[in-house]
Amino acid sequence: ARITLRQLLDHAAEHGYAVPAFNISNMEMGLAIMTAAREANAPVILAASRGARSYAGDRLLARLIDGLVETFPEVPVCMHLDHGNDLPTCATAIQHGFTSVMMDGSLQADGTTPADYAYNMNITRRVTEMAHACGVSVEGELGVLGSLETGMGDQEDGHGATEKLSDAQLLTDPAEAEQFVKDTGVDALAVAMGTSHGAYKFTRKPDGDILAMTVIEEINRRLPNTHLVMHGSSSVPEDLQQIINSYGGDIRPTWGVPVEEIQRGIRSGVRKVNIDTDNRMAMTAGVRRVLSENPGEFDPRKYLKEGLSLMKDLCRARFEAFGTAGHANKI
Ligand code: G3H
Ligand code: 13P
Ligand code: NA
Ligand code: ZN
Repeated sequence: ARITLRQLLDHAAEHGYAVPAFNISNMEMGLAIMTAAREANAPVILAASRGARSYAGDRLLARLIDGLVETFPEVPVCMHLDHGNDLPTCATAIQHGFTSVMMDGSLQADGTTPADYAYNMNITRRVTEMAHACGVSVEGELGVLGSLETGMGDQEDGHGATEKLSDAQLLTDPAEAEQFVKDTGVDALAVAMGTSHGAYKFTRKPDGDILAMTVIEEINRRLPNTHLVMHGSSSVPEDLQQIINSYGGDIRPTWGVPVEEIQRGIRSGVRKVNIDTDNRMAMTAGVRRVLSENPGEFDPRKYLKEGLSLMKDLCRARFEAFGTAGHANKI
């Protein structure tokens, strides 16, 4: 059944777990996520970006979600817009059955220019008024995602800030976060503490200098009743890097966010954990391997099934690690 982000994260907070938000853009990713959720007895957040909406098209995407919700009736599903950048994008997502929208006003609508507080607060407040009138939840974002090692945004995958950012921009200010939640009425708040989107987050296993989990702990002290969101939370597993590289791929040495750091966040109010890259890598690893080992294979079902299987295992592991497993039938 469909559920709002607010309903889902209130339950997660009450029971001390977090829910992964897995990005979806096609049927195989949907089947992998939902099968893992069913096996783990876990609720889930399906996130669609603007890129996913234009890839699949809103009509197909909406009916894919309907199909998944009907096929897996025991799984509570929050259908969430990832990184909405203006009010019309959020409104049209709601028209297509989304139960939650992210208004990311940390950047201006161009997706590359850092926004000031007034811009972010005003647009997020307008989206929240509109969405709440429709019974839909809202996630806001304060602070710009990017690397504390280089000061760069997410240029690797083509979105994010393009100018060099200061530590003050890259780390959410706890006092400002408190004001932002009061000013906007958001249901959940994405914060910045050194993660970025894509596979190339850190050049070494992150420590507190480049992954500032203490920022989350400080924000949670000021906002104990606000659901916190971690973006850029793929772990970029070494085994998936190795499979991809040993079957013709080229992933440069890299580190993601260790699962134990996410678990530390969950102890400090993190209730939604965004993961896309890990699933992209799992899908790619499976497809590369099966095509390399079976060069005569050309049935898409055969190779997509392998990608789906590795992605399902990844999702399953995150449901277990975040404490989401076992809660679906109690919501
Ligand atoms: O925001 C990041 C998500 O991984 C979505 O990426 O915009 O390429 O669909 P995308
Ligand atoms: P990753 O690129 O780390 O998977 O982050 C995904 C994300 O934050 C989507 O909003
Ligand atoms: Na999001
Ligand atoms: Zn994100």
